[in-house]
Order: sequence, then C-alpha cells, then structure tokens
Amino acid sequence: HHRIGVLTSGGDAPGMNAAIRAVVRSAESMGMECIGIRRGWNGLINGDIVRMDEDSVAHIINRGGTCLFTARSDEFRTKEGREKAYLTCKLLGIDGLVAIGGDGTFAGCLAFANEHDISVIGIPATIDNDIGCTHYSIGYDTAANTALDSIDKLRDTMQSHERCSVVEVMGHRAGNLALYVGLAAGATAVLVPEEKWDFEKDVAEKIRRARLAGRTHYMIVVAEGATSACQVAEKIKKSLGLDPRVTILGHVQRGGNPNARDRVTASRMGYWAVKCLADGKTNRVVVHQNGEITDVDMVEALKTPHQLPIGEQEVLSALTGAKI
Ligand code: F6P
Repeated sequence: HHRIGVLTSGGDAPGMNAAIRAVVRSAESMGMECIGIRRGWNGLINGDIVRMDEDSVAHIINRGGTCLFTARSDEFRTKEGREKAYLTCKLLGIDGLVAIGGDGTFAGCLAFANEHDISVIGIPATIDNDIGCTHYSIGYDTAANTALDSIDKLRDTMQSHERCSVVEVMGHRAGNLALYVGLAAGATAVLVPEEKWDFEKDVAEKIRRARLAGRTHYMIVVAEGATSACQVAEKIKKSLGLDPRVTILGHVQRGGNPNARDRVTASRMGYWAVKCLADGKTNRVVVHQNGEITDVDMVEALKTPHQLPIGEQEVLSALTGAKI
C-alpha cells in the first residue's frame, strides 16, 4: 500500500483521536500516506476527505471526541453506497482502510471488502466495551471513570439527604459499563441486560438488607439496556415508600480527555492496524486479549458474542449481599 485512509464511525469514544494520530504517524513511518476520511462512511461516499501528516495530528492525543467527525451511515448499508465509496478510493488511490469504531463499523468493513478490492482493518473503539472479540475497546476506561466521578458526587448528596439514587449508565445492549462502574462505586444493586433480574429480589430486597445493616442511602445502577431508571425509581417508591432521585448520565460519558489507558491502547492499536496493512493483511480486527495486542479475522470477530467479564457479577453479588 502506498496510500491508506482512516475514519471513525459510530458513537465517538475518548481515545479515538489518539488512535487516528497513531495510524497517521505509523503510516508515515512505514512509508505510506494516510488520508483522513471525515464523517464516517459518509465521507468515503461523498469524497469528504482531509490530507493528514505528522503535524496535522499533533496536539490531539489528549482530546476527547474525534477530529474526523463521526456518523452512522445508512447509505453505506446499501450496495450502491459502497460502490460510490469505492469510486472515491479509486479516484484517490486509496487501497487500504483503517476503520475505528464498533461492531457496526466492522460489519461495514466486511461488506465493503467482500465487494471491492480494498484491504480493511478495524480498531475497536466504544465506551460500551461490547465487542466480543476483544477484552478491551478504546474509550471504556475513560467513560467508566467519568461515570464513577458523577456517581461519587451523587453519593455525597444522597448520603446527606438519606436518599436513594437510581443512575442510568450507557452501554447500548450491554451491561459491561454498568457492572464495572457499579462495582467501583460500591452500588447497592446493579441491573444489566445479560442477566435475568427480578425487582423484588434484586432491588427491593437489596435495599431492605442495606437498611437493616444500617445504611440510610442507596445507589442503584441501571444499564440502559436493562430497563429505564425512571421505571425502577417508580417501583422503589411504590414498594418501599422511598423517594428516589433519578440521574441519567447520558452523553457526558462519551466526552472528556482520554485517560492514560485509553491513549496507550489507542496508540498501540493504531500502530498495529497499520502494521497489518504493511504486512499485506486484510479483514482483520485489532484486539486486546489477555494484555496483548494482536489481530483476529473479522468474520470470526463478528461471530464472537459479547460477554460480561467472568467474575465481576459474582464479586458484585458477594459484596452487595449485605448479610444481616
Ligand atoms: O455506543 C455508544 C453509545 O453511547 C451507547 O452507549 C448508546 O446506547 C448509544 O451510543 C447512544 O447513541 P447516540 O449517540 O445516537 O445517542
């Protein structure tokens, strides 16, 4: 390859900029030129591009969001859309692509590479950490710490007023972020979509036990994919007579400067993605497995179901069991 493209697609995540920087600089160091494609796949369809070099990615390693903008593209889901995107690649002489995003982004990569002569490498970046093939996706740690910081603040005011807080954490259909944050926050209960839960047993009884053990404030963490925090709060009010406060953390969880873990992971993954292209690889996803950065087949990657980390749920149950 002598000219490759880089894009970010799907929801943004802190550390995407660090990944872009790593891709651009690694490409230069391996004798390739890297073109920035703006607004996700739409940029490839519309020829929305920006030339990038070593200097254009200076001072972004520390910034949240993505300097290339991001989008979810409906047009790229169509064959016609992908054909247009390929014409852009032909016109610009791009024969390799690094796509930074989640499962949806990788599905787009595969469809594109199956139809056209182009090498594609995916880099996992989403605050949800819901990509089955990798233990870690860029943005997760920063988002978890952002959520934790907010929950710690809520705890202060809930404790002072002896209240119950119900906090809704992002994560799309996955409970990874909620479970991790709940564990770190010392939550009274955590509801995730992967596990069957029952209001009476998993919320009401946990609050009762906490009260019997002497607590007078409670923190219930709800993954957005499990149910709505408002509904849980309604039920708490009805069945326990408490007056809970609801906080939906929302998009603040997606912003902020990436922390060290996300910057370093993004740098390593960006470098690895370009190395894959330099080695003539295609249809690969860069992954973090057991502390190592490596790459796996994209078809296999998309087939790997996401899981909650083994053990976290067990620890949480042990710690929130609050035996009396
Ligand atoms: O995938 C990241 C994420 O923030 C999810 O946690 C959430 O469900 C979704 O994106 C929100 O999407 P939008 O940016 O369209 O509001």
